[in-house]
Amino acid sequence: MRETFRAMLVLVAVLFFGAAEFCSGGKTSFNCIEGERKALLKFKFCFNDSSDMLSSWKGNDCCEWRGIGCDKNSGHVVSLQVRGSIFDQPQLYLIDDAEEVVSSLLKLRYLEHLDLSGNDVNSSLIPPSFGLMKQLRYLNLSSMNFKGRIPGELGNLTRLHVLDLADYYGGALKVDDDIHIQDSIGQLSKLEFIDLSANQLSGNIPESIGQLSNLEHLYFHSNKLNGVLPDSISKLSNLKLLSVARNSLEGAISEAHFANLFKLISLDIGSNNLSCEMKSNWRPPPYLAYIYMASCKFGTGFPKWLQLLKRIKIVDLSNASISGPLPENIGHVMPGLYGLSLTNNLMNGSIPKSLCNSKALLFLDLSNNMLSGSIPNCWRNDQSFNFIDLSSNNLSGLFPSTMGQFSSLFVLLLNNNSLQGELHLVLKNLISLTILDLGENKISGNLTSIVGGKTGNHALKVLRLRRNLVSGYIPLELCSFSQLQILDLADNNLTGRIPPCLGKFPVMMNAANMIYVFDPTYLDLAHLLEVVKGRYLEYKKTTLRLQISIDLSSNKLTGPIPEELIFLENLHNLNLSQNHLSGKIPEKIGQMENLESLDFSQNGLSGTIPNSMSNLTKLSHLNLSYNNLSGPIPTGYQLQTLEDPTIYTGNPHLCGTPLLMKCSNDTLPPTITNFKDNNEGALKRMWFYIVVMSGFATGFWGVVGTLIFVKSWRYAYFQWVDDVKHWILVVIALKVARFKKMFNGNPDDQ
Ligand SMILES: *[C@@H]1O[C@H](CO)[C@@H](O)[C@H](O)[C@H]1NC(C)=O
Ligand SMILES: *[C@@H]1O[C@H](CO)[C@@H](O)[C@H](O)[C@H]1NC(C)=O
Ligand SMILES: *[C@@H]1O[C@H](CO)[C@@H](O)[C@H](O)[C@H]1NC(C)=O
Ligand SMILES: *[C@@H]1O[C@H](CO)[C@@H](O)[C@H](O)[C@H]1NC(C)=O
Ligand SMILES: *[C@@H]1O[C@H](CO)[C@@H](O)[C@H](O)[C@H]1NC(C)=O
Ligand SMILES: *[C@@H]1O[C@H](CO)[C@@H](O)[C@H](O)[C@H]1NC(C)=O
Ligand SMILES: *[C@@H]1O[C@H](CO)[C@@H](O)[C@H](O)[C@H]1NC(C)=O
Ligand SMILES: *[C@@H]1O[C@H](CO)[C@@H](O)[C@H](O)[C@H]1NC(C)=O
Ligand SMILES: *[C@@H]1O[C@H](CO)[C@@H](O)[C@H](O)[C@H]1NC(C)=O
Ligand SMILES: *[C@@H]1O[C@H](CO)[C@@H](O)[C@H](O)[C@H]1NC(C)=O
Ligand SMILES: *[C@@H]1O[C@H](CO)[C@@H](O)[C@H](O)[C@H]1NC(C)=O
Ligand SMILES: *[C@@H]1O[C@H](CO)[C@@H](O)[C@H](O)[C@H]1NC(C)=O
Repeated sequence: MRETFRAMLVLVAVLFFGAAEFCSGGKTSFNCIEGERKALLKFKFCFNDSSDMLSSWKGNDCCEWRGIGCDKNSGHVVSLQVRGSIFDQPQLYLIDDAEEVVSSLLKLRYLEHLDLSGNDVNSSLIPPSFGLMKQLRYLNLSSMNFKGRIPGELGNLTRLHVLDLADYYGGALKVDDDIHIQDSIGQLSKLEFIDLSANQLSGNIPESIGQLSNLEHLYFHSNKLNGVLPDSISKLSNLKLLSVARNSLEGAISEAHFANLFKLISLDIGSNNLSCEMKSNWRPPPYLAYIYMASCKFGTGFPKWLQLLKRIKIVDLSNASISGPLPENIGHVMPGLYGLSLTNNLMNGSIPKSLCNSKALLFLDLSNNMLSGSIPNCWRNDQSFNFIDLSSNNLSGLFPSTMGQFSSLFVLLLNNNSLQGELHLVLKNLISLTILDLGENKISGNLTSIVGGKTGNHALKVLRLRRNLVSGYIPLELCSFSQLQILDLADNNLTGRIPPCLGKFPVMMNAANMIYVFDPTYLDLAHLLEVVKGRYLEYKKTTLRLQISIDLSSNKLTGPIPEELIFLENLHNLNLSQNHLSGKIPEKIGQMENLESLDFSQNGLSGTIPNSMSNLTKLSHLNLSYNNLSGPIPTGYQLQTLEDPTIYTGNPHLCGTPLLMKCSNDTLPPTITNFKDNNEGALKRMWFYIVVMSGFATGFWGVVGTLIFVKSWRYAYFQWVDDVKHWILVVIALKVARFKKMFNGNPDDQ
């Protein structure tokens, strides 16, 4: 709406001024200086402008050209702003020497504002001659695909207020291994804003940084800086935002660093190798509202000084060796808190009831601690959580019924605890829930009581109840979750038949039935981590491949495998192993052309293996062992590559390759027994993909993103993800790290 209005305004303006020029034959007050006009044309011809960004750069009055600003009185060009788009065209592409660009710009002797960000200089070096443009006050060369060092000559731009060399092109300042922040930076005494983030800068942060006494915004995050945070930081008494996160800084952050930083609002120093053992009576900068200190080692209990911060909004102290309990009154002393992450710590004790009074809290992540006791059941319906992760603790007791009323909750992860008892229609009011993980608990009762009650919840994409005590049959209600992509009910006590309606999950039938909220869905986790480092071009090209899965293994299901399952042509994993299924394998199973993993082992299936199975060309994991199958193993393209005979073990009447038994009456069946189900890893991987792609990326991002709005938190990782959402990225990055570990590492070391 507002965009449209703005576009109309621009249009009106263009029409108006266009007409004015036509009628009066140009502007009356002045024409541009001829020498400057020529310099601009020379500048223009250094680039390939295939998208016609500079099409207005013709005619005499260069002050009228797009992106040019002239001084009203003198007529000199004072401002040149031609931004390219780093995501797509349009963009200028350098075809000449970068030195030529600067030499033409040097003719604009009154130029104060220069912004060429987002254009592509084809990996040129930053010309040191930029340092000759002494009159510059604003210089934005961000995301231009420069490589090599930042020239010390930039230190000569002593009038500079703003310097932006952040590089979201993919860390292009990277060719030399040894790119330091030059000491001469200290000469930029007027500097208020500096952004060197997402490059490949190494070395120390120079002590001279302390000379930038006007500095308000310092962004050095996502580089390879090492050494300590210089003490001189403490001299930056105007600093509001300090961001040095995601580097390799080490040593201790101390009270002394903050001695004069009274204006600090945002402290972003996480993901380094720092220690943060501040004294417990430390008085932090009073306006501090955003704290990202992940991986900063505290080695103590929950820091007392945090409780002094009346304006605190976001706290991320994950992976910080914090032990002991959460303060009982946390919900009262931090009333404005809307994001709290303490994942990967050593906290024990129980979850404080006072959190039920945190009206602002949207995001709560206490996973991977040693919290015990029951989850408080005092949640209020005026709270509007979006994300709750309490997984991998030692929580016991019942599922808190008051948590079932959060209509804006997207992600609820309570897996790997000791929750027990029945869930009573939890999904009934959780109408936005996209991911529900209750796996690895002691939840009992039947599925009707969990999913029943005609929920109308069509957002659910992941339902995970693995390794619980759920019993009863699989109710038809389950089939009404039309967005379901992962159904994991493995390792329970389910009985009865597999309902044929499972063959009708729309997303599992056809990827086209998937609802995307908006574009960032097309991220996948591994790449997201890269994004946080400032790389995004790669993932843009990556084609999205969703994992879609049904796992009903290790239950007591009986009856046949419903023929209808063959309609799930988009399914990647089907695991029905370790049940009491009987009857034949569906004849047309070859239709499930996207199957990568299929496990029917340890059932009572009989009959022959359908020939159509050889049509499953993507199959890389198959297990049919320990059934009662007979006859020849079909030959065909993919089955031939699955050479491991153990996948057929325990079916005495099967014959043919890869079994030793030829299809005749003479040979004995093979007796290889070393059967091992290694499907676990694959499942975790699927889980890993889904979580961020569908959970965070759509619902969480889409909604939390718009709710959380903090102006001062300004990074532009994406053009569409505006400033503040950075924090969400940070949190997601942590998740990524965790899931990555889950994917790569030993699943038991969680
Ligand atoms: C400019 O770029 C376009 C599109 O990339 C290309 O077709 C054209 O040949 C280029 N022109 C020059 C002069 O390099
Ligand atoms: C970009 O730079 C490379 C290496 O310097 C050069 O070979 C290539 O021609 C340049 N591309 C264009 C379009 O100028
Ligand atoms: C530099 O330009 C980019 C867009 O290309 C913009 O997002 C960023 O805010 C600018 N930096 C400053 C300090 O204005
Ligand atoms: C510009 O910077 C260089 C390198 O930092 C320095 O040697 C030189 O003296 C400076 N020139 C002026 C005019 O300040
Ligand atoms: C972090 O710093 C400690 C010493 O403070 C050092 O022993 C350790 O190796 C460092 N870890 C990394 C990953 O750099
Ligand atoms: C936790 O911090 C250590 C360094 O202190 C780091 O090596 C490790 O990668 C961090 N783990 C996570 C999950 O962030
Ligand atoms: C938490 O851990 C500490 C140290 O291991 C222990 O002294 C304390 O009793 C524990 N508290 C609870 C509530 O388990
Ligand atoms: C988890 O809590 C139970 C009691 O509820 C206790 O017996 C057990 O030792 C705890 N486990 C861990 C790992 O703390
Ligand atoms: C679930 O349990 C209730 C009684 O607790 C029973 O009436 C119902 O039939 C069961 N449903 C299923 C699907 O087992
Ligand atoms: C599973 O269900 C059967 C009866 O249906 C019951 O006897 C058994 O105790 C249950 N097992 C568990 C672990 O709940
Ligand atoms: C395999 O697929 C092809 C084409 O989809 C089909 O013609 C053929 O009948 C299938 N084979 C079996 C054994 O079903
Ligand atoms: C095995 O031999 C019997 C008779 O000896 C025959 O009826 C049967 O068809 C044979 N089976 C196979 C699988 O060749």
